[in-house]
Amino acid sequence: AETEYDYDVLVIGAGPGGYVCAIRAAQLGFKVACVEKRATLGGTCLNVGCIPSKALLQSSENYHAATHDYAGHGILIDGVRLDLARMMARKGEVVEANVKGVEFLFKKNKVTWLKGFAKLEGTGRVTVDGKPVTARHIVIASGSDSADLPGVTVDEKTIVTSTGALELSAVPKRLVVIGGGVIGLELGSVWKRLGAEVTVVEFLDRLVPGTDGEIAKQFQRILARQGLGMKLGHKVTKAEKTAQGVLLTIEPTAGGEAETLECDVVLLSIGRVAASRNMGLEEAGVALDARGRIVTDAHFATSLPGVYAIGDVIAGPMLAHKAEDEGVALAEILAGQKGHVNYDAIPSVVYTWPEVATVGRTEESLKEAGINYKVGKFPFMANGRARAMGMTDGFVKILADAASDRVLGVHIIGPGAGEMIAEATLAMEFGASSEDVARTCHAHPTLSEAVKEAALDVEKRAIHI
Ligand code: FAD
Ligand code: NAI
Repeated sequence: AETEYDYDVLVIGAGPGGYVCAIRAAQLGFKVACVEKRATLGGTCLNVGCIPSKALLQSSENYHAATHDYAGHGILIDGVRLDLARMMARKGEVVEANVKGVEFLFKKNKVTWLKGFAKLEGTGRVTVDGKPVTARHIVIASGSDSADLPGVTVDEKTIVTSTGALELSAVPKRLVVIGGGVIGLELGSVWKRLGAEVTVVEFLDRLVPGTDGEIAKQFQRILARQGLGMKLGHKVTKAEKTAQGVLLTIEPTAGGEAETLECDVVLLSIGRVAASRNMGLEEAGVALDARGRIVTDAHFATSLPGVYAIGDVIAGPMLAHKAEDEGVALAEILAGQKGHVNYDAIPSVVYTWPEVATVGRTEESLKEAGINYKVGKFPFMANGRARAMGMTDGFVKILADAASDRVLGVHIIGPGAGEMIAEATLAMEFGASSEDVARTCHAHPTLSEAVKEAALDVEKRAIHI
């Protein structure tokens, strides 16, 4: 006789990977439960990641504009003051609305929220806070945690991860950010705009590794002009708490004299690691790779039958939309459909000012792979709308195959880059050529005309430059 299960699909973790997988599975007719140990749904992204960071980025951008940019528009405001407590409360309200939204969606789709900590016992079996629950399919979407650095002990008050950096009760006078990646630059920007003196200590000799080199160079120049301090090619070896704050010891990565840096708050943001420990995975027979990520096949199946994994806990970019798309694909695969994620067209955005948005191949990776390509570029300085907005920093860069003209990668630094990258992603998903993009009518005056002009520039026929 067939085994009776409590649920058809049980998802561990209610982040963007898990909650989306649960909803899609319910839409497809499965009886679904989602286990979450946090008091609210939405995972890292909604509670302590994407959403609160974007709320603070928006608020701090508004404050910065009021104190620095409005005068240039002929708007004179005296006595602008910062009410940090209100700014934080607003961030809390934004998070609350989002996590409550997921709760509503669970009810609407009849997904059962099992509150508690899930431990995998074996195929078809988990415990939730010790209580056994069975399911035909088990999906692990446990996400990731901030990576540790030896010698730097996090207390989430003066030595913080992103979680503490989203909760500071006062603007630090001096903030040192360890790691010049996405979190460091986004949250470094927040506190810089609110008045902190910010220094980024980065191990490599460049920021945002993996991003197209030309874009990263321009990004670094713009951030330096904004007054962001940088210690590239340096690593932190020690963080000691003192009466005044924190004393950091830093050393050149290539070797050399150590020096010290004093600050009030340290943000540790050197990457995130898969949350795969202490939940019975290895004991039950789920294989992990050397970095602790769950090993999966092309259909998200782990080494243990009936157990699947998606999102930050498996290989690939640690991005909410990647986790969501995997959640949908897996639910469809479990329903016998052909769910699929195109890993060649996953956009990635840094929500600083200006924004940096990229999709597809970088120039470096094309060179390395020996692929012949053409480049088209267009600066926002030559875009009418950008001039009207007073936001002319940055450019669009399109890489197209030299023979077929197929778009291989699009990289944008500039105002609204994060929205414009959707057009580029769609073009790539449809296998468009740069000619296709160049011949598509773009509304005037919009920033997106810079994408069209960059596409025209692939054959050196841009009109406005
Ligand atoms: P998570 O969102 O981490 O969710 C996993 C959930 O599982 C957690 O709620 C956890 O409590 C729960 N869980 C784990 N183990 C168990 C267990 N045993 N039992 C019960 N529950 C368990 N990405 C973007 O795309 N855009 C952004 O702008 C962006 N900004 C970010 C800003 C910050 C500060 C941070 C830290 C991350 C940001 N990210 C962003 C990354 C994004 O948050 C992650 O890629 C995304 O949350 C991954 O989703 P997930 O479902 O795999 O895991
Ligand atoms: P990251 O991988 O983006 O950057 C880490 C940086 O730290 C790298 O530049 C690395 O060279 C550097 N580094 C590593 N060890 C170091 C050391 N000992 N000393 C100094 N520098 C060191 O990681 P980050 O910023 O912590 O973000 C984690 C993840 O969260 C990212 O992978 C990203 O996918 C996700 N995220 C996404 C966002 C977005 O999409 N807008 C926003 C925030 C996070």
